[in-house]
Amino acid sequence: MKATIIGGAGRVGSNTAFALQMDGTLAEIVLVDVLREQAQGEALDLRHGAALAAPQRIRAGGCEDAAGSDLVIVTAGLRRKPDESRLELVNRNVALFRGILDDLRRVPLPESAILIVVANPVDVLTYLAATEGPFAPGRVIGTGTLLDTARLRSLVAEDLGVDATQVDALVLGEHGDSMVPIWSSAAVNGVPLRSFPGFDAAKQQALLEATRKSGAEVIRLKGGAGYSIALATREVVRALALDRRSVLPVSSLQAGAMGISGVALSLPTVLGARGIAPVLDIAASDEERDGLLNSARVLRDTLDNLNKT
Ligand SMILES: NC(=O)c1ccc[n+]([C@@H]2O[C@H](COP(=O)([O-])OP(=O)(O)OC[C@H]3O[C@@H](n4cnc5c(N)ncnc54)[C@H](O)[C@@H]3O)[C@@H](O)[C@H]2O)c1
Repeated sequence: MKATIIGGAGRVGSNTAFALQMDGTLAEIVLVDVLREQAQGEALDLRHGAALAAPQRIRAGGCEDAAGSDLVIVTAGLRRKPDESRLELVNRNVALFRGILDDLRRVPLPESAILIVVANPVDVLTYLAATEGPFAPGRVIGTGTLLDTARLRSLVAEDLGVDATQVDALVLGEHGDSMVPIWSSAAVNGVPLRSFPGFDAAKQQALLEATRKSGAEVIRLKGGAGYSIALATREVVRALALDRRSVLPVSSLQAGAMGISGVALSLPTVLGARGIAPVLDIAASDEERDGLLNSARVLRDTLDNLNKT
């Protein structure tokens, strides 16, 4: 399988390339970036590790080198300028992303090719790609709240002093402030979180706040997330490349599950070789359902206000 990472010289792109190299599930990885030399350097550095990792072909290239890719991963994004509003940044990133989609329209890709959107605002960009092409809506996946879910699981595990891989707690909705934790089904290897010794409402609130602020805290300390989002993206790639039918909280164009349609946001989604199959309608409390509808409204507002600055 061949994957192309657009934005491959950046922090998220290069970290993702490394995570995918370590995984060994792909035969070929191409790093595309406007910083051509930086991309060449990243590819060279990764290739030097080939003897110690997996026999993959890793190289830098232009968008035309995405030809024949089974997976296209977009991590290219811009950072906020001083004094810039959130919406101005959204508009600049939307323009950049549409430019990348235009470039991809000119590249021969298999009909089965899948687009993985990592760049922010991930739900907005996922919506645009799913509604504007060139990929079929069922083959456009945003990493969405997969990272928020991983963060919450890790924070719960650290707090309770248990194995993070055994903490099962979903975050759904917008990858942003209106994200919704699904506490009603949270558990540690089958033990309901609400009955776990030492867990209470105050702790729950504190852990949610810490999850919400995690992204900003990482930006403050090191400029932005890299390793954790790379591992989240690897999880999506594994599900697709190995047809694992993994249930992951990822973003896609919604068409009615949980009463939501016409926006892209994260709901539990089965991912396999053909992409999304299907999005699950799950049991949730009234508060959680309302939270998801609120996330949908927030995202609809952003879409309605695009290019109005
Ligand atoms: N979805 C998530 O959970 C999540 C987590 C972390 C970061 N992100 C997002 O990922 C994006 C990248 O973050 P980063 O820290 O890697 O930024 P970065 O600045 O390190 O990397 C971005 C890269 O994109 C490249 N680029 C810009 N325009 C391009 C184009 N038209 N074609 C090809 N490459 C282009 C830049 O040269 C740069 O190398 C941001 O939008 C960020 O918000 C998302």
